Amino acid sequence: MDNLSILIVDDEKITAFYLKDILTAAGYDVHLAQNGEEALEQLGRRKFSLIITDLVMPGIDGFALVRRVKQLQPDLPVFILTAHGSYDVARKAQTIGADDYLLKPVNPDQLHAALGKTFEKSTRAKTGPLAKLGAEGYAAQNIIGASEPMQEVFRLIDKARHSKGHVLIRGESGTGKELVARAIYSAEANAAAHGFVIVNCCAISEGLIESELFGHAKGAFSGAVGDREGLFEVADNGTIFLDEIGDIPLRSQTKLLRILQEGEFRRVGENKVRHVNVRVIAATNRNLEEAIKSGHFREDLYYRLNVIPIGLPPLRARIADVPQLVRHFLAKHQKRHAAKVGLGDDAMELLSGYSFPGNIRELENIIQRGISFAKGPLISRSEVEAYLKSATAPNGQALVVALDTQTYPTLKGHLRKIERDFVLARLQNCGWSVSEAAKVMEITRTALHNKMKKLGINGKELRLGGEGADRKGGSGLARKS
Ligand SMILES: Nc1ncnc2c1ncn2[C@@H]1O[C@H](COP(=O)(O)OP(=O)(O)OP(=O)(O)O)[C@@H](O)[C@H]1O
Ligand SMILES: [Mg+2]
Repeated sequence: MDNLSILIVDDEKITAFYLKDILTAAGYDVHLAQNGEEALEQLGRRKFSLIITDLVMPGIDGFALVRRVKQLQPDLPVFILTAHGSYDVARKAQTIGADDYLLKPVNPDQLHAALGKTFEKSTRAKTGPLAKLGAEGYAAQNIIGASEPMQEVFRLIDKARHSKGHVLIRGESGTGKELVARAIYSAEANAAAHGFVIVNCCAISEGLIESELFGHAKGAFSGAVGDREGLFEVADNGTIFLDEIGDIPLRSQTKLLRILQEGEFRRVGENKVRHVNVRVIAATNRNLEEAIKSGHFREDLYYRLNVIPIGLPPLRARIADVPQLVRHFLAKHQKRHAAKVGLGDDAMELLSGYSFPGNIRELENIIQRGISFAKGPLISRSEVEAYLKSATAPNGQALVVALDTQTYPTLKGHLRKIERDFVLARLQNCGWSVSEAAKVMEITRTALHNKMKKLGINGKELRLGGEGADRKGGSGLARKS
């Protein structure tokens, strides 16, 4: 990764220097430009590996710059910086080809996660579609797993890569569903030529999801100020990743079924039938069979999607992979210039007996925190123990582990703890967006803000929430890579 150079475009000196400090400390070669014109000029003079640009600038603004860069150097990744983290910004950034977007003030963890994802992807793109990969090939793509259950997963990914069939990825939270979806996509033939659109169905409110997926006509509902193409149109001839498909409301499931069966759909508020050809990779941690029984998920849709089913094992079912995963995350999260930290044998022993309700994301989180809090060359057993005690995992299952009647002896105290864990988990699942989490929890934003205040959840948690932060990489609800 030596000599990766990054151009930061921002007229606001504070942000520019802040980013420069973080990135220089991480070993990147950083250059600054004050506006779009200056950026284009520098671009003509030297080679960059990434551009991070502000949105609002005098002259050529961030969006215009992205468009221009994508014409000049389509392979050069561009991140957008924005203070206004609205869904529209995310969506627009994605449709014009920005690779990710970051909210100001920039969270260093999110920044590093986004960089990791992007640079990992461009190395992968260079490798091109491979034949059979085997465990080593997948390790090169950062999917670790020598255990028996993972060999089966690799076999299925191989199968998915050689077919155009829809894929349904199942697994508990943090088992690597998104990672697998990306691996299938990146290995598809012509991956470079066709788009990959990611939609987090849980993060979009019920009222908006149809318009997001299928588009809308001007005036279709209040707020529909112009015609808008849906994400299926954006993904035409490519792949759409419908994450958390179990959260799609029934009404939209019907439209989804039609698009899968006939390749046909209508934008909201429009009669014209449109056609697309899109491969769907769907993922969920829900029990779809139960959702079908209770009438929340269409059985016919389930069968349409389930052409290539991939089940990801929970980490506790493949504890043999823990040591290799630990090595992988140690390497991934160590700063290049800092003294290296390892994991002590006694700490490893402790991890081998842990049930990992948050699966691989939780393990990654333990290592990440361990590295930042380590007092010596090794992450000690007591550090890991402290983490396990305070563990709040990404979903309800974790509460069983978190039940701690000694620290929270009263009912009130315990309920507060549970409420707090739940709110944190929801925030995390929604990429730390308060508005999105409020929508999912069906309370107002203000109510959620008040609740957070009452529960003592503040900016610190949001910043420390490495799990969610890492996963979303600072990006929004839908993005195109
Ligand atoms: N086999 C693996 N090897 C290495 N890293 C992994 C593996 N599986 C998952 N990870 C890492 O664990 C984290 C969580 O993975 P991912 O986001 O794909 O999980 P998920 O199943 O989509 O979770 P959720 O249901 O909560 O969305 C990511 O940082 C990912 O890179
Ligand atoms: Mg996911």
